[in-house]
Amino acid sequence: MLSGKTILLIIGGGIAAYKSLELIRRLRDRGARVVPVMTGAASEFVTPLSVAALAGGKVYSELFDLTDEAEMGHIQLSRSADLIVVAPATADLIGKVAGGLAGDLASTLLMATDTEVLMAPAMNVRMWQHPSVQRNVGWLRASGVGFVGPNDGDMACGEYGPGRMSEPAEILAAIEARLMDGPMKGKRVLVTSGPTHEPIDPVRYIANRSSGAQGTAIALALAARGAEVIFVTGPADVPPPEGVKVIRVQSAREMLEAVTASLPVDAAVMAAAVADWRVAREAKSKIKKEKGALPVLEFEENPDILATVSQMDAGRPGLVVGFAAETDDVVAHATAKRARKGCDWIVANDVSPETGIMGGSENAVILISDAGSEDWPRMGKQEVADRLADRIAAALGMPPAGVLGAR
Ligand code: CTP
Repeated sequence: MLSGKTILLIIGGGIAAYKSLELIRRLRDRGARVVPVMTGAASEFVTPLSVAALAGGKVYSELFDLTDEAEMGHIQLSRSADLIVVAPATADLIGKVAGGLAGDLASTLLMATDTEVLMAPAMNVRMWQHPSVQRNVGWLRASGVGFVGPNDGDMACGEYGPGRMSEPAEILAAIEARLMDGPMKGKRVLVTSGPTHEPIDPVRYIANRSSGAQGTAIALALAARGAEVIFVTGPADVPPPEGVKVIRVQSAREMLEAVTASLPVDAAVMAAAVADWRVAREAKSKIKKEKGALPVLEFEENPDILATVSQMDAGRPGLVVGFAAETDDVVAHATAKRARKGCDWIVANDVSPETGIMGGSENAVILISDAGSEDWPRMGKQEVADRLADRIAAALGMPPAGVLGAR
């Protein structure tokens, strides 16, 4: 929850400004006070009236508005917040702050503040990739500005790639991760995420289609509840979350090593799509084409990270959560998987192509525990993550017998 927290929300001028309306609603639902600031360009995309109505208060936009200066000077405005959020953070706003320009209220506030700043960039993919924007973002990051997103996806301008502003739920989770008040304060949680890459030779590997979206959302949701999160990720499509310790790995064996090195933890959530097999003999140099001969790859089994951690005698996390992606008899297969691996909970989902879940933004899961199976309605991956994180927080918050009872 964000009760008692004040967020200064700077809305930049981009088509993604409409998502800021939803962000304001979500922030207020979580108990935050939102003080909105709009750039001139932002009011071309959303009206100050809508923003004021949702925020339940005045919208600040003019640097030279004397009434505002009398009510609250820009210095005070910039420092009275617990966090400054810039969403959407346009190339223009990012450039102004990185370049030290303060020509309007938004950039002046960002220059004058000593409060932490979180930016949610949104712009055309080529603009995002432009060396000057990348230089500015790099410089801001190095000087302590946090970033959430941008995400890959279809853009309003018809192009595809990184540049879409993060969804309001993702920005909310990043905000909560920073403000760090929550039921999981003092708890250490490990999350695995993404695919693994299993090498064939120095230039080739075997992979799978996991994007890492669900694992990333879970890490964000746990951090938002105040947990210390260790995020062990294979080469995923989505950027790792801010505010968590990120350990990058390639193969299943590296993932197991990183996981065991990160113990002890209070809970482990194994959302990675770990390759079941690896190539038995990785070639040390590139395999060359030979006329009439096709290479034969032999496989061997990878270590099962979830089973290894679940079945540890000493140092087993208090709660181990696994995932099961199934295409038929979801509950039966996932229940058997839970017993076979020895984990406490299994989050099962139906990944048959007709569900559109694999690679999509939504998920429909069944939580399987000692208490039986529980169907969750179809919802966004961040909502699934939030709900799972609430359940984990509740389980870890109980006295030891209660945790066992929750399994
Ligand atoms: N997992 C793991 N290490 C592996 C394989 C899987 O830690 N080598 C974990 C995943 O992170 C996930 C769970 O095990 O939490 C289920 O993975 P899945 O591949 O669905 O299960 P399998 O045991 O491989 O069963 P099958 O492929 O037969 O469905």
